[in-house]
Amino acid sequence: MKKLEEYVRSIPDFPEPGIIFRDITTVLQDADGLHLAIQSMQDCLKDTEVDVIAGTESRGFIFGVPIAYNLHKPFVPIRKKGKLPCETVSQEYDLEYGTATIEMHKDSIKPGQKVAIVDDLIATGGTVEAAIKLVEELGGEVVKVVFLMELAGLKGREKLAGYDVASVIKYE
Ligand code: PRP
Ligand code: ADE
Ligand code: MG
Repeated sequence: MKKLEEYVRSIPDFPEPGIIFRDITTVLQDADGLHLAIQSMQDCLKDTEVDVIAGTESRGFIFGVPIAYNLHKPFVPIRKKGKLPCETVSQEYDLEYGTATIEMHKDSIKPGQKVAIVDDLIATGGTVEAAIKLVEELGGEVVKVVFLMELAGLKGREKLAGYDVASVIKYE
């Protein structure tokens, strides 16, 4: 059986020169790759007591929902601005160029709930840092952050000091 990292397709200079894009579609479109990815991320949670899995739109949904389903836990979507219909909390964060905003429904997490945040990849850490702020604003406790891939050279982990962070595949 192939190793998980062999299912990831690396595309140089996408979406702009100098970026190596780590493409998960080749993981997802292979039954063994998909299974290995979900199982490996889920294994990162085996020693953690969790009430809720939260995932960031959109690639965090792909991995977060099956993990929540397998663990029989609820899944909470952290969405890009303007998509959620009820009362929300919002957090702006920096992109390479400009800013973006993510939101959560105010009733999606109850104070004191233990939350694991799931995403496909950490680059600068801006997305997950904003996600953590939202969960904490709602009174949740972020007990784990799980990524399929970590771009270690971008030092996103430095933004997550004090949190329990796990990644399955590390790229320098
Ligand atoms: C990508 C990726 C992570 C984020 C990582 O999402 O899925 O969520 O960037 O970057 P950061 O650590 O520098 O914040 P993107 O916003 O491109 O959207 P997508 O998930 O909808 O494809
Ligand atoms: N999101 C931010 N940087 C990325 C990269 N290098 N590959 C895939 N998704 C990303
Ligand atoms: Mg994303």
